[in-house]
Amino acid sequence: MALKDKALSVREKAYAPYSNFKVGAALTAENGETFVGCNVENVAYPEGTCAEAGAIAAMIAAGQTRLTEVYVVADAPKPVSPCGGCRQKLIEFGEGDVVVTMATVDGVEQRMTLSDLMPGAFTEAHLENT
Ligand code: THU
Repeated sequence: MALKDKALSVREKAYAPYSNFKVGAALTAENGETFVGCNVENVAYPEGTCAEAGAIAAMIAAGQTRLTEVYVVADAPKPVSPCGGCRQKLIEFGEGDVVVTMATVDGVEQRMTLSDLMPGAFTEAHLENT
């Protein structure tokens, strides 16, 4: 199944009763395996956990630490854009040239690299004097 279809499929399982905004994410790890995540909200923290964070957690739990491709989809008027926290999480595990495809369920897609999504990212390079 293509990354797009995995993201669309997991999106249906999202638990988003507070925002009613379901998001699905799928990523490919360095070894070729794919991992998926959906957003999971709760009453105390209605923003919950993002789909991207869920997919990253699944990858890490499976022992993979590098991602090479990401697909995020939601039912929105324009392609869904990863939040700031997720951008930082994605850059932790992917090179700047990794392509993130942001999409709507209607099939509108926008592709951006992690560098474009997170210009001037705080990275390990900033810790070099420590
Ligand atoms: N959300 C994601 O899961 N990923 C994004 O890229 C944007 C936002 C979720 C968080 C929350 O459950 C809902 O969408 C509304 O913000």
